[in-house]
Amino acid sequence: MQVKNYDANLHLESCTRIWREVSWLPDWAAGVAAMERYFSDNPCLVVEIDGVAEGMSVAVPGTIRHLGSGIPFLAVTSVTVGNAGRKRGLGTLVTGEATARGASEGCLVAGLGIFEQGYYNRLGYGNGPYNRIVTFCPSDLPRDLPYPDRVCRLGSENLDEVFSNICDRMPCHGQAALGKSFYDAELQWESKFIGLGCRNAEGLLTHHLWYSPSGERGPHRVAWLCYRNGPELLELLGLIRSLGDQVDLMMMEEPPHIQFQDLMRTPMRSMRMLAGEGKRVGIRSVSYTQARILDLPGVLGKTSLSCDEVAFNLSIHDPVSALISGSYGWKGCAGDYTVVLGPECAAEPGHTRGLETMEAGIGAFTRLWLGVRQPSVLALTDEVKAPGALLQRLDNVLRLPEPRFNCDF
Ligand SMILES: CC(C)(COP(=O)(O)OP(=O)(O)OC[C@H]1O[C@@H](n2cnc3c(N)ncnc32)[C@H](O)[C@@H]1OP(=O)(O)O)[C@@H](O)C(=O)NCCC(=O)NCCS
Repeated sequence: MQVKNYDANLHLESCTRIWREVSWLPDWAAGVAAMERYFSDNPCLVVEIDGVAEGMSVAVPGTIRHLGSGIPFLAVTSVTVGNAGRKRGLGTLVTGEATARGASEGCLVAGLGIFEQGYYNRLGYGNGPYNRIVTFCPSDLPRDLPYPDRVCRLGSENLDEVFSNICDRMPCHGQAALGKSFYDAELQWESKFIGLGCRNAEGLLTHHLWYSPSGERGPHRVAWLCYRNGPELLELLGLIRSLGDQVDLMMMEEPPHIQFQDLMRTPMRSMRMLAGEGKRVGIRSVSYTQARILDLPGVLGKTSLSCDEVAFNLSIHDPVSALISGSYGWKGCAGDYTVVLGPECAAEPGHTRGLETMEAGIGAFTRLWLGVRQPSVLALTDEVKAPGALLQRLDNVLRLPEPRFNCDF
C-alpha cells in the first residue's frame, strides 16, 4: 500500500465517493465546493487500492498554547476509508503518515478527534481533557445577562473577519488555533448555519457565534463562541438567551473560561427534566480529542513552568514507528532522555546517572505535559511507571490549569 499526496486530477472523484460513503458532508449541495477546497488546500494524503483512492486523511497546521507559549501543532481533522477498503490498515496508515508528515514539516504536537478510544492510541495519541457538552434551555440563563446593542448577521462571505476574530480569541491553556482553510470549510459545510456577531464603533467584528439550527425548537448546536474577553462572552450568552422565547434547547461545548452551571438558575431540576426523546438537559463529559507529542526536545524547549527544577530520566515508548513507512524520515519519539522541568524545560538524549527514572508511553507523557491529569493519576490508569517519590514531586511541579483545546478539530 502506497500513500500519495492528494492530486485533484487523479483523486477528486474517488475521494468524493469516500466522503459520500461515510456521509461526512451534512449538506451536499452547500458543502461540496468547500469539501473540494478542503482536500486541495490542506495537507491531504490518499492510499490507493488497485490505483483507486480508498483511504484519505486531511490535516491542518496551526498552534497549540501551553501556558504562555505557542507551539507548532498539526490537527488531523479527517480520516476516512471507503466502504470497499475497510479493515486492511488504510485508516491507520493514512493517519500515521499524516502525523509523520506534520512532524517532518516542523509540527511539534499533533491532535485529532476520535471515533473510539484505542484506535489512535496505537499511533501514540492519548486522551485529551474532557469535552463538556452543555445542553440547556436558553431561557434558563439569567435575565440580567447583557444583550448586545446591535447584532449583525454573518455568512461564509465574512470568512476573513470571522477568522481574524478567531485569531484574537481570549486565550486559554491548551487552546488550538488552526489555519483559515479550516474555517473556510466550517463556514460552508451546511447552508443552514447561522452566524451572529457584534461590531465595535469602527465596524470591527469583536465577538460572534456560529450555530446550526434544528427545527423550530432546537436543539440548536453551537459550533463555536468567539470572544476576546469575559464581558463579550456574557454578551454572546445574552444573545443566546434572547432566542429562548422560541428555542427550547441549545447544545454547545462549555466555554473554557466559565463554569456553565453557575449561570443555570435551576440546574438540578433541569437535569431531571426530559425535554423530549434524546433531549436531556444537562452537562455531559467525554474526551473525544486526543493529542501526542511529535518531538520531545522541541516541545520541552518551548515549555516554561513556574516551579523549582525537577530532573529525571525518561524512557519513552512510542508504538508509531511500527505503523508508518518512515518515508518522511520521522520515526516517533521512542528513546531515553534526561528531562528537566522548570522555568526552562529541556529534554536531552540519554539518561543521567543518579537520577530517578520514569517509563512512559508518548501518549501518556503528552497528557502529563498538557496537564490532562496529574502524573500519579496517570500512573494508575495509563502507561506511566515511576517511583512514588518522583511522581509526588512531579505532581507538585505540574500544577497546570485544565487544558481546553477550544477548537472542534
Ligand atoms: C474509522 C476508519 C477510518 C477505520 O478505517 P480502517 O481502514 O477500516 O481501519 P484499519 O484497518 O486501519 O484499523 C482497523 C483495526 O484497528 C484496530 N482497532 C479498531 N478500533 C480499535 C479500538 N477502538 N481500539 C484499538 N484498536 C482498534 C483493530 O485491530 C482493527 O482491526 P480488526 O477489527 O480487524 O482487529 C473507517 O471505519 C472510517 O472511515 N469510518 C468512518 C469515518 C470515521 O469515523 N473516521 C474516523 C474519524 S475519527
